[in-house]
Amino acid sequence: MQELLKVAMPKGRIYKQASKLFREAGLAIPDETDESRKLIIAVPEANMEFIMAKPVDVPTYVEYGVADIGVVGKDVLMEENRDVYELLDLGIARCRMSVIGLPDWKPVLNPRVATKYPNVASQYFRERGQQVEVIKLNGSIELAPLIGLADRIVDMVETGSTIRENGLAEHEEIFSITSRLIANRVSYRMKNNAIQALCDRLQPVIAAALAAKA
Ligand code: PRP
Repeated sequence: MQELLKVAMPKGRIYKQASKLFREAGLAIPDETDESRKLIIAVPEANMEFIMAKPVDVPTYVEYGVADIGVVGKDVLMEENRDVYELLDLGIARCRMSVIGLPDWKPVLNPRVATKYPNVASQYFRERGQQVEVIKLNGSIELAPLIGLADRIVDMVETGSTIRENGLAEHEEIFSITSRLIANRVSYRMKNNAIQALCDRLQPVIAAALAAKA
């Protein structure tokens, strides 16, 4: 009998894709988990317990070891910079981090950049030797250039609908995003069999999905 794995799962748009991937890998995750409002869900069929977290908090739970592993977007990993192992690229929830602004945007001195990702944005402009003022917002980032709060924004683009419907343009892609499987450093050693077994089940499913896309 393998050890119980505590898994920090992101509530919301990634969860459905993650649970589907786990099911395809042969883990018996009941369908009810997709709609549940419970925050701690026992999944004895898969020898797991899901901790339903706000996506941005997943690396925190994993770093502190209250979850052994977690599923999290690369965007959150880059922003949070937590001390965790990144084990697998799950290939789900594919999108990108981009610099966005009005289509007729012109460079200005010390522009203001609004974003949910202040660390990612600061690093990006610093590496380019550009001085910017970063303004942290928590949502509806696309409003910022429309109402004059910021010259540009750094945000996630998935389908592109939000920028299109708001008459904005994508100026530059910073990096592409997919969800990752991460592990707590101690759990990775102490529960290595269970974690390795999960990776071994997931890997062929991820590879097959990639091949189907190519
Ligand atoms: C995210 C992101 C963009 C949008 C991109 O926002 O911040 O606004 O999705 O998706 P699209 O390219 O498919 O339109 P989210 O829906 O998480 O809401 P928020 O604005 O409250 O952050």
